[in-house]
Amino acid sequence: MAKAALGLLLTLFLLSQTNAQTTPAPGPAAEDAGPINVTAILAKPGQFSQFIRFLNETQVATQINNQVNNSNQGMTVFAPTDNAFQNLPGGALNNLTNQQKVLLILYHVLPQYYTLTTLSTASNPVRTQASDNDGKPFVLLVSGEVNQNQVNVTSSDGVQTTIYNTVRKDYPLAIFQVDKVLWPAEFNESKAEAPAPATTPKGGSPKGSSNGTATAAAEPAPGNGAQSVKVGLGLVSGLWVLCMGLLF
Ligand SMILES: *[C@@H]1O[C@H](CO)[C@@H](O)[C@H](O)[C@H]1NC(C)=O
Ligand SMILES: *[C@@H]1O[C@H](CO)[C@@H](O)[C@H](O)[C@H]1NC(C)=O
Ligand SMILES: *[C@@H]1O[C@H](CO)[C@@H](O)[C@H](O)[C@H]1NC(C)=O
Ligand SMILES: *[C@@H]1O[C@H](CO)[C@@H](O)[C@H](O)[C@H]1NC(C)=O
Ligand SMILES: *[C@@H]1O[C@H](CO)[C@@H](O)[C@H](O)[C@H]1NC(C)=O
Ligand SMILES: *[C@@H]1O[C@H](CO)[C@@H](O)[C@H](O)[C@H]1NC(C)=O
Ligand SMILES: *[C@@H]1O[C@H](CO)[C@@H](O)[C@H](O)[C@H]1NC(C)=O
Repeated sequence: MAKAALGLLLTLFLLSQTNAQTTPAPGPAAEDAGPINVTAILAKPGQFSQFIRFLNETQVATQINNQVNNSNQGMTVFAPTDNAFQNLPGGALNNLTNQQKVLLILYHVLPQYYTLTTLSTASNPVRTQASDNDGKPFVLLVSGEVNQNQVNVTSSDGVQTTIYNTVRKDYPLAIFQVDKVLWPAEFNESKAEAPAPATTPKGGSPKGSSNGTATAAAEPAPGNGAQSVKVGLGLVSGLWVLCMGLLF
């Protein structure tokens, strides 16, 4: 009797483990079981070899795998195709320091899980895993039409790209294909003096151009401008904390 009950409990326990983690009981793991491996997922479609190489080289892959396993926020990755890397101006990657390479890859990673729908309505700016030496995050702008299930992502250099393909959609790791490398304007800052930032209204279209007001909105500037960006970010993260409070 007690033995039967114990057996039942054990079965239930094993079943719940299977449901919770899609991990079979100890033993040889099935192909798709076990902890999430971002590079293994990206290797399947066969068009992300450059991004995989950088994820590995910079060890951001390990960071993502660990953080996806250990946080309950989940993560979102924008994966540029090999074509996207090829379309960068010659020398752009070679000009980066090792630290900038890490930042470039982290700029494609959000510390939160989004579906296409929640991404399309996310509050701008959206912070990424990349940040400057003061801890100020590099940000992206997103805009979308919920009805059309379409989301555009604009990097801080003002270049916009549309998401057409979802590589992985399930919590805790979403991976969206992007056809352009998201380039932080912060890398170009030494080359040109950025104008003071202005606020971008939600739902407005941050048009892809390297001049004009859209760039001003996306590009943090030194001095007073930087201060107002900080205030803006403070507000955004405040709202974010509030939202998380409501959710959990
Ligand atoms: C993840 O997958 C890659 C490529 O399939 C493999 O080289 C690597 O060892 C895997 N990492 C872990 C932690 O399993
Ligand atoms: C990952 O990087 C290590 C060195 O850091 C290298 O030995 C290994 O071959 C790389 N793996 C892949 C799949 O690129
Ligand atoms: C995943 O998280 C669990 C619980 O925190 C931990 O025991 C396990 O070692 C982690 N696995 C990896 C691959 O990080
Ligand atoms: C790379 O750096 C060189 C020297 O600073 C510069 O002349 C060139 O424009 C840079 N190339 C790119 C694509 O940024
Ligand atoms: C920043 O530099 C990259 C790589 O050199 C280049 O593709 C891009 O056009 C530059 N953006 C701006 C706003 O100057
Ligand atoms: C996204 O970008 C495409 C192409 O530039 C544009 O036609 C569309 O209106 C944009 N949608 C949103 C919601 O910004
Ligand atoms: C802004 O950039 C566009 C191309 O993106 C160009 O046609 C236009 O002349 C530029 N305007 C100024 C003021 O530089």
